[in-house]
Amino acid sequence: MAKTTKPKSTVKTDKTPVDLLTLKQASAEYARLQVEIAAHDKRYYQDDRPSVSDAEYDELRKRYNAIEAKFPHLRTLESLSMKVGAAPARGFRKVRHAVPMLSLDNAFAEEDVVEFVGRIRRFLKLTEDEPIAFSAEPKIDGLSMSLRYENGDLVTAATRGDGQEGEDVTANIRTLKQVPQYLKGKHIPPVLEVRGEVYMTKADFLKLNERQKAADDTIFANPRNSAAGSLRQKDPTVTASRPLGFFAYAWGEISEMPADTQSGMIAWFEKCGFTTNPLTRLCHSVEELIAFHRKIGEERSHLDYDIDGVVYKVDRLDWQERLGFVSRTPRWAIAHKFPAEKATTVLKDIEIQVGRTGALTPVGKLEPVGVGGVIVQNVSLHNEDYIKGTDNNGESLREGRDIRIGDTLVIQRAGDVIPQVVDVVLDKRPKSAKPYKFPTECPVCGSEAVREHDAATGRPDSVRRCTGGFICRAQAVEHLKLFASRRAFDIDGLGEKQIELFHEKGWVKEPADIFTLERKHKKELLEEEGYGDTSVRNLFDAINSRREIGLDRFSYALGIRHIGDTTALSLARGYSAWKAFHDAALKVAKGDAEAIAEMDALDQIGDTVIEATADYFKEKRNLAAIERLAKEVNVLDAEKPKRDTAVAGKTVVFTGALEKFTRDEAKATAERLGAKVSGSVSKKTDYVVAGPGAGSKLAEAQKHGVQVLSEDEWLALIGG
Ligand code: IVH
Repeated sequence: MAKTTKPKSTVKTDKTPVDLLTLKQASAEYARLQVEIAAHDKRYYQDDRPSVSDAEYDELRKRYNAIEAKFPHLRTLESLSMKVGAAPARGFRKVRHAVPMLSLDNAFAEEDVVEFVGRIRRFLKLTEDEPIAFSAEPKIDGLSMSLRYENGDLVTAATRGDGQEGEDVTANIRTLKQVPQYLKGKHIPPVLEVRGEVYMTKADFLKLNERQKAADDTIFANPRNSAAGSLRQKDPTVTASRPLGFFAYAWGEISEMPADTQSGMIAWFEKCGFTTNPLTRLCHSVEELIAFHRKIGEERSHLDYDIDGVVYKVDRLDWQERLGFVSRTPRWAIAHKFPAEKATTVLKDIEIQVGRTGALTPVGKLEPVGVGGVIVQNVSLHNEDYIKGTDNNGESLREGRDIRIGDTLVIQRAGDVIPQVVDVVLDKRPKSAKPYKFPTECPVCGSEAVREHDAATGRPDSVRRCTGGFICRAQAVEHLKLFASRRAFDIDGLGEKQIELFHEKGWVKEPADIFTLERKHKKELLEEEGYGDTSVRNLFDAINSRREIGLDRFSYALGIRHIGDTTALSLARGYSAWKAFHDAALKVAKGDAEAIAEMDALDQIGDTVIEATADYFKEKRNLAAIERLAKEVNVLDAEKPKRDTAVAGKTVVFTGALEKFTRDEAKATAERLGAKVSGSVSKKTDYVVAGPGAGSKLAEAQKHGVQVLSEDEWLALIGG
C-alpha cells in the first residue's frame, strides 16, 4: 500500500530473528503485531491519519508475515493475511460452540432455594442427612465468554450468542489482561474451553461514560452494556483502551478433567493463570447458602463490579453429570437473585404497538426515572385487562387498581432487567384522570381489532388483535424483523431501521424480497443517504452468506404463531428435512389425522402449535410467499441428536419401581442419548425397562413382542 505522509514513528519491533523465536514468543508477537497493524490500517484507511511511515509499516507487515509463515497454525480468520486491505467494518464471524452455553434457572425467594436442594436430593435419591457441598459464587452481571485453548494457546474467544452459536471476538479478547494468551502449568489438557464473565468495574464505567459524553458519543446504560459495547468493537485497539476484567467460573469442551469438583476446577483455573472470584465459598446446607446470599447482598453496593445475585452449584462433578439439564438450564445449579430496586414516576401517555401476530400491546410512556442504575422511560402494560387491573394471569401486582394517564406509578425492574409496574399511587391521581379506553381499531391500518375466544375456557383472549393480516404494515414489518433477527436468519446490517426503510420504499414486502434486493434495487439503494459502496456491499454479502440456512432457523423465521426457537428446533429434529416438514404441515392444514398424530408425538409440540401450523399453511398467500422464498435459499437438513449411541432413535418405556436411578434421571439420560421416552407401550416401543413390581406395561410389552430389559441390562446397553 502506498502511504503518502511520513509522520513520526512510535513503532518498536522485536529484534529476535523469527527463526529463533519460541512458539510462545512468536504467538505473543503475532497477536501484538496483528492489533498494531490493524490500528495503523484503521488510521490510514478510515481516519486518513497515518501514524507511521510506509517503510515502518512494511517492516511490521513483513515480520508479521514471516512469523505466520514459520508458525502457520497461528493463523485464524482474524489474521491480516485473511483480509484484503483494511477489512471494512462488518459483523463478527460466527462460532458454533462445541458444548452449548446454557443459562441458569432463577430463585427469588428462600423457598425456591429449599425446593432446589430438595429436588437434587430426590433426583439423586439422597437421604436428608447425606451432606451436599455447593460452590456458592457471586453472579457477575457482565457477558459470558468461551475461551478455547488448544495445547495451552488461546485460539478462539466467542460470545454466548444464542447459546449454540456466538461471535468470534478473539482479536478483542486478546487485549484483556486477565485473559491469558497461554496457560501456565504442566498438565494442560490439549483441548480446554474456559468460560466466565467479562465485566467492567463500576468506576471504569462512570469514567468511560464521562469520556463518551465529552466526545458526544454513545452513553451506556450500565456496566454490562458498556462491557458488551467495548467488546463488540470492530477495532481491537478500541477494546484495548477500555478496561475489561474476566472471572473464570465454568468450562465447555475439555479433553481431560483436571479435577472432580467445581471448587477443584476453580482452584485449577487460578493455577493456569485465570482470575476467579475471591468471594466464592463452599456451603453445605440451605442455611449456609441463604447466609451467603445475605452476606453478599450486604456487600453488594461496596463491590467494585455489578452482581445481580449469587449462583449455587453442586460441587461434585459426578453428581452434576447425573443431574444433567432440563431444557436450557442445569438441574445442578441455580441463580439466587437479589430483590429488584423500585422507583416512582408519572405515566405521561399510553402508546399502542402492533406486533407480528397483530397483537395490540400498550406501552406506558414514563417521565424518565432511574431504577437500579438504569434510566427507564417505557414500561409494558401487557394488555387491556392489565391496565384495568383485572387480569387474572398473575401479571398484575396491583390488586384491582387501574392505570390511567397522569397516574403516579411504582416501577421495578423484574429480575433486574424488565421494567414492571408494581403499584399505582392513588393519592397522587389527578382529578381529571379518566379510565383508559383501549382502542378497538388497529392504530396502524384501521382494521377492526378483536379479542378471540379461547375455545376451551370460553373466556376472551387477553390480547386484542388487528384483523388486517397482510394489509397491516405493522404485521408485515414485524415479521420481516423477526426473519432477519439473531435467532432466525441473523443477517448482519439488516436491522429494524433498515427493514422499516426498505419496506416503506416498497423494496422489501416479504422475506423473499430480501434476497432479490441486490438484483432489483441496488441502484436505488446506493442513492439513499448513508448507503455507500462499502456498506451496501457488506449488506449484500451478509444476505448472500445466509442463503444456506438450518431447518430450525428457517422454520422459526417463518413467523408462525406459537413457534418460538425451541419449538422450531423440535420440529426440525422431528422432520429432519424442509420437504418433510412442509409436506406434513400441508397435510396437517387439511386435517389429515395421521399427520396430526405424527406432529403431536414430537417433543414439545401440542395442540396450540398444531393449530397455529394448520392456520399458517391453510393461507394461500403464505404458501406463495414460502415458495418464492424457497427459490432463494437452500434449507439444510437438521442434525439429529447423538446418532452414534445404541439407543438413538429408539422408543423406551420405563416401568416399575426403579432402583438404580430415578425415573427423571432415566428419562433425561435416555433423551440425552437420542432415545424417545414414552409413557405407554405400543407396537412402536423398542424397549421396556422394568424394575420390580412392573405390572400392566410388562403385560403390554409381552403382547406386542417388545423387548423387556432389566435395569442392569439397560445400563449395559447404554454403556453404564
Ligand atoms: S454458571 C450452565 N456461574 O449468568 C450454566 N454463570 O443466567 C453456566 N453468570 O450466562 C453458567 N456469574 O453469563 C455461572 N458464577 C457464575 C456466573 C454466571 C455470572 C452469568 C453467565 C450465565 C448467566 C446465567
